[in-house]
Amino acid sequence: MSDLLTITEELQPIVWQEDKLLLLDQTMLPASEEWVTVHDAVGAVEAIRSMRVRGAPAIGIAAAYAMAIAARSIEAPTMPAFLGALDAQAARISAARPTAVNLGWAVQRCQDAARTCNTPGQAAARILALAQAMREQDIEANKAIARNGAALMPDSGGVLTHCNTGALATAGYGTALGVIRAALESGKRPRVFHTETRPWLQGARLTAWELARLGIPATLLVDSAAGALMASGHVAAVVTGADRIAANGDTANKIGTYTLAALAAANGIPFYVAAPFSTVDLNVKSGQDIPVEERPAAEVTSLAGQRIAAEGVAVWNPVFDVTPAGLIAAIITEHGVLRPPYETQLNSLARQPEVTEVA
Ligand code: MRU
Repeated sequence: MSDLLTITEELQPIVWQEDKLLLLDQTMLPASEEWVTVHDAVGAVEAIRSMRVRGAPAIGIAAAYAMAIAARSIEAPTMPAFLGALDAQAARISAARPTAVNLGWAVQRCQDAARTCNTPGQAAARILALAQAMREQDIEANKAIARNGAALMPDSGGVLTHCNTGALATAGYGTALGVIRAALESGKRPRVFHTETRPWLQGARLTAWELARLGIPATLLVDSAAGALMASGHVAAVVTGADRIAANGDTANKIGTYTLAALAAANGIPFYVAAPFSTVDLNVKSGQDIPVEERPAAEVTSLAGQRIAAEGVAVWNPVFDVTPAGLIAAIITEHGVLRPPYETQLNSLARQPEVTEVA
């Protein structure tokens, strides 16, 4: 363990406690650590849409627990009636945000699990066990990603990351931020740079908070400083997470990721994506088919409740972009480090047994 890391307690933002789903409210960080309780599917959709819980793996796991809550609340005389009602709740939860495939993946797994059961009670219990297993296995997958990716991190050069991909964005430990953490734990001393991540400030608010909590020194920059930083020679690697990886390796992630990948290519710096296999969507052939969420104009025109843009301005606010596979030096998964071309490797990994089994 590195002497730089001063972790006192592992951060786990999704907790099932006394039959309740508790989420660490990410809209309140870093000012205050507040937990919200999700009581039903409507509450889960609100929490996901308003980004109280965010990050591709985290919204998938929160959605699985939401399915367990929904299943418990359904009163249906027959199993077909129960499954019909569950499917309606599933459709509502899956539609909360469109880009991260983990959301639909987790909900579908819950629907599939319910279909193997004979009674609503059995199905509700099976879905809850599945949600718990997904949560535990996400943490294990992240640690494996981190181990696999640490070897790619520089011994002492700079590493730049974007958005928040730490414990907050997952069940625990994190993906790209986990890779950086594991590099430090292995004794490497990369200098950590991270972007602010406009407009929602996942980097400035959440990554900075997590890194400080871990005792990892880091330098924050505005998104538009990334090119100058890379040109200065201070960046040896860029690593980000992913919200959906298409069959050909094209990767959707937080808006600005494509910019970083293009700048990395222009500066001869390797650009890595770190993600669990639950983020791979072989049903979409390429990035062109990935739906990109657009969020309200107010996220751009206002900051911390204060209007910053001139009145009347038109806004375009896509919150993800797609990085072509050709710009990605490696995709770091729990199953190993994939190098381009990605299609065949992603396909053969998809034929492995499901990563998440019912506990
Ligand atoms: O809009 P967000 O904050 O949910 O976007 C999150 C990201 O883009 C992350 O990089 C991605 O989900 C990977 S998190 C391990």
